[in-house]
Amino acid sequence: MKPTKVTLTFNNGAEPIELPVMSGNLGTDVIDIRSLGKQGYFTYDPGFMSTSSCNSAITYIDGEEGLLYYRGYPIQQLAETADFLEVAYLLINGELPSLDQKSEFVGTVRRHTMLHDQMSNFFRGFRRDAHPMAVMVGVVGAMSAFYRESSDAFDPLQRDVATFRLLAKVPTIAAWSYKYNIGEPFTYPQNRFNYAENFLHMMFATPCDSYQPNPVLARALDRILILHADHEQNASTSTVRVAGSSGANSFACIAAGIASLWGPLHGGANEATLKMLEQIGDASRIGEFIKRAKDKSDPFRLMGFGHRVYKNMDPRAAIMRKTCHEVLNELGLHDDPLFKLAMELEKIALEDDYFIQKKLYPNVDFYSGIVMRAMGIPNSMFTAIFALARTAGWVAQWTEMMSDPEHKISRPRQLYTGQLRRDLVPIDKR
Ligand code: SDX
Repeated sequence: MKPTKVTLTFNNGAEPIELPVMSGNLGTDVIDIRSLGKQGYFTYDPGFMSTSSCNSAITYIDGEEGLLYYRGYPIQQLAETADFLEVAYLLINGELPSLDQKSEFVGTVRRHTMLHDQMSNFFRGFRRDAHPMAVMVGVVGAMSAFYRESSDAFDPLQRDVATFRLLAKVPTIAAWSYKYNIGEPFTYPQNRFNYAENFLHMMFATPCDSYQPNPVLARALDRILILHADHEQNASTSTVRVAGSSGANSFACIAAGIASLWGPLHGGANEATLKMLEQIGDASRIGEFIKRAKDKSDPFRLMGFGHRVYKNMDPRAAIMRKTCHEVLNELGLHDDPLFKLAMELEKIALEDDYFIQKKLYPNVDFYSGIVMRAMGIPNSMFTAIFALARTAGWVAQWTEMMSDPEHKISRPRQLYTGQLRRDLVPIDKR
């Protein structure tokens, strides 16, 4: 029988405290500590290793079994049969769309892919070599200045309009940050393409030639977007929720999420993984880097390995490895040295005691960089693509929070370790 309450007893004879235990539909039970503050205690959990920050019905992860469900559907089934906008609809609305619902949803997204023309000026304020994530943080945040009529986070209709604008325009902003970086003219979205085709078009088409996306690559990119669409309360999603809890507009909140995702321990790991593989260079050097990864005095970590939640293979990594094969074969790159190196590194690491004991497995970022590099996407754009995919999950989580009548502003407390009260001595007497 599952417990329904827990009693905290103190070893100084203080009154015990009784707290409810709550169960979700799946996963770990939680101790409801909301009343603890009033009874004179806070909990302490830097990094939120054992803390549920909210209740959510969107994504479920079982780290031990390596399971990932979006609204109950296993990621493997969605990656195989759905497309990204179908998954975005599912994450936001809770159910997969009917044919009519999908065509209306896709049609609305298509009609919002262009940016306000004046927004193109924002790009020109950046140095040409600005990292695309720096540009995305800036330009997505600037959407609040252009789309003020959909910036009231407490108005459900404005939330819907902002959701469509973000889903539709973030790919344009991402592609244009690349075009600006390489000095090519911006390519406008083309409504004849689907979501992934349109992104490839905006990335690689030029005014000088007609461009037709390779359908295998477009499908692979669409699958990559599905795999990255949402992942429960990860660092960037938690950032979006905390920013949104104050009632800030969605554009500002998503810009905050992009900033958090940029970190090499989070969404920046795909770019860092590829740099690491290029640094290793040859299978003969794998042992040297594995040794460094295990050395506590060395800050080096094996990029693309390990996860806060997964203590088994990240199910997305397995699908990503399969997508790698498909893309490399399509491009005649099955002998890609980096892919072979990655598979050798994965094999050696998975047989190493350190990684076995610490349950460190490849995560979604281990193979994604290799696929995107093979597609001609530069390292610097890997995390930008992660951000455009995760925008679907961020807006779904933000909407879930803002439509929760119980939602409150996030305001954690602390364990104070600073100075006790003291009086100031004027500077001429110090
Ligand atoms: C993503 O949260 C999400 O869901 C994120 C994400 C999503 O979709 O939103 O899945 C996307 O961010 C995937 C993770 C991408 N990051 C990387 O690949 C960077 C490399 N991995 C690590 O830095 C690390 O594994 C984290 C940050 C991902 C997880 O770190 P945790 O949960 O805080 O675990 P930890 O750092 O406390 O590690 C536990 C132990 C430590 O050793 P001890 O102190 O216990 O001796 O494992 C070791 C770590 O040193 N360890 C590693 C390692 N990852 C953890 N050692 C070597 N190489 C690694 N990659």
